Amino acid sequence: MTDLSPRRPHVRLTRLALQDFRNYATLQLRLDGRHVCLYGANGSGKTNLMEAVSMLSPGRGLRGAEFTELIRRDAEGQLARSWALSADVRDGDIDRKLGLSLELDEQGKSKRTARLDGVNTAQADLAELMRIIWLTPSMDRVFVGPAGDRRRFLDRQVMAHFPSHGTFGAAYEKAMRQRNALLERGRADPAWLDALELGMASAGAAMAIHRVDAVRVMQEAILARPEGAFPKALIDLDGQFETHAANDMPLTDIEQEIVSQLRENRSRDQAAGRTSQGVHRTDLRVIHAPKGLPADQCSTGEQKALLIGLILANAQALFERDFAPSPLLLLDEAAAHLDSDRRAALYDELAALGGQAWLTGTDRSLFDAFGDRAQRFEVSEGVVREG
Ligand SMILES: Nc1ncnc2c1ncn2[C@@H]1O[C@H](COP(=O)(O)OP(=O)(O)OP(=O)(O)O)[C@@H](O)[C@H]1O
Ligand SMILES: [Mg+2]
Repeated sequence: MTDLSPRRPHVRLTRLALQDFRNYATLQLRLDGRHVCLYGANGSGKTNLMEAVSMLSPGRGLRGAEFTELIRRDAEGQLARSWALSADVRDGDIDRKLGLSLELDEQGKSKRTARLDGVNTAQADLAELMRIIWLTPSMDRVFVGPAGDRRRFLDRQVMAHFPSHGTFGAAYEKAMRQRNALLERGRADPAWLDALELGMASAGAAMAIHRVDAVRVMQEAILARPEGAFPKALIDLDGQFETHAANDMPLTDIEQEIVSQLRENRSRDQAAGRTSQGVHRTDLRVIHAPKGLPADQCSTGEQKALLIGLILANAQALFERDFAPSPLLLLDEAAAHLDSDRRAALYDELAALGGQAWLTGTDRSLFDAFGDRAQRFEVSEGVVREG
């Protein structure tokens, strides 16, 4: 029997406050550290609440929304001037305070602020304290959709291990856009192209190494999982630079490989109007292990179960990282599509994992099998009540 018991103290939210965030005018939520179940009608604000929590990790949260979209619009369509969220986080027996806000000035220009224990900081620094992973209904088709969807899903998982992965990704994309624009203009300054390609190579090599490392520990966690409601997956990266990284090629050699390929491909990329090779083309291959079947050929329910298994395995892998805080799990509508046995199995797994998971569903009864291992809240038109 695999020991799923936690090795380190778990990070969990003990308070969440919102002001003018989506459909919440104000909200104060006190949490006792157990798992959190949110139930309520469609459109009541469950996902908005999960989104608020997800903003405490680097990036744009679980909807990938612009910060300005999060500002509350009242019933008359009037936009508030700001939004703010603050949270108390308990890390072992240490309490920390996190805050994030956006303000619009008279000209409509926005200013973001992130605070850690009352001191201004960068939003990315909140990752020092919090690692958050999530599953949303929009991921349901990730195995059958385009490679880009799987890559984003993968990179989100990787970011929970290495928050700098997101910064490298942004730097890579920016340099690539500039390179494409330069090539399109024709007669590009070779020194400028060299510099951009070097930038892509150093970010790209780091990304490949991060991905390989995270996929390796995820795979180990998957294989260590007990057989049960959520099938095991075989996961693998389809990308030449990840293959180099998996074969232990040093970072500087991978950088060199990327640089030479980019240089070689300049005229081809110019004709194509895009960068033909690189870590922006990598795909994640997923196989349903018990069936030996690629995930895209599995049934809808099997794909969902695979996804849940992947997220649980990643949570377990994160719990075992000694350099990272333990993760928070956001499972939006994960329970609704599971039969009652699988639901009970999910709650048992979450309870064994420890930490804090947030779940949503339309009916309170969906969470019955959680028993007293979770706190329940009813969400109704932007108002949240415990019970
Ligand atoms: N910026 C905003 N200001 C005010 N309301 C907003 C804003 N953005 C979204 N909403 C509204 O918030 C409401 C709640 O949305 P949310 O996605 O949280 O619902 P939900 O409880 O998850 O519903 P479902 O069960 O259908 O998933 C929606 O009616 C939506 O229109
Ligand atoms: Mg929702």
